[in-house]
Amino acid sequence: MTMDELKRQAAAQALEHVRDGMKLGLGTGSTAKHFVELLGERVQGGLKVIGVPTSEATRADAVRCGVPLTTLDEIDRLDLTVDGADEIDAALNLIKGGGGALLREKIVAAASDRMIVIADDSKWVATLGRFPLPIEVIPFGLGATQRAIVRAFELCGLSGKMTVRAGPDGHAFVTDGGHWIIDAHLGQITDVPRLAGLLNSIPGVVEHGLFIGLASIAMLAGPAGIRVFERP
Ligand code: 5RP
Repeated sequence: MTMDELKRQAAAQALEHVRDGMKLGLGTGSTAKHFVELLGERVQGGLKVIGVPTSEATRADAVRCGVPLTTLDEIDRLDLTVDGADEIDAALNLIKGGGGALLREKIVAAASDRMIVIADDSKWVATLGRFPLPIEVIPFGLGATQRAIVRAFELCGLSGKMTVRAGPDGHAFVTDGGHWIIDAHLGQITDVPRLAGLLNSIPGVVEHGLFIGLASIAMLAGPAGIRVFERP
């Protein structure tokens, strides 16, 4: 089975948690895109749901698939968000933002009663950090922000190369919110809550890709089937 087929399997499994009338957060990335497509098929078959997309890319996919959309200005809470991840640990802490949508993804996940993470099982790790941690920053004062980030890393005993993410045109990748992303190659993040707290306190940091206590269930598709993990 290809990686893409595994991702679609995980998406199909998450779809089984969707009920008529639900308000859904729609994640971003290649796995979440499968979920939006499968959801669209169910909507064409009469399922009544409404979605809040976590990126302009997902908005376009949802419109193409006929999934009705709303915003967090028009509704209060969401019943369920289904999204992918770059890394997942046993506590269901995540690294997200490989697709650059971490800010909207975190806002939507935090507004949801439940979050299901869908992925192929290569995303399951003992310790977060092998995947470069995305940190969304304001372009103004980038040097000062980077120095503050390095100090936060040092306080957590971490170091590693930091790169400003480039887009397809070779210039800095610009998020849907108009910000840039620093990818930090840290290796292993042993104290995830501490690092998250320190990054949250840096003025030029808009958001970071550490998702703590947001995911309720992870569905990981592998050659032997789908493993389901619930947050302890
Ligand atoms: C986007 C994300 C994605 O969910 C994450 O990068 C996983 O993507 P994929 O399903 O394509 O592997 O966080 O910001």
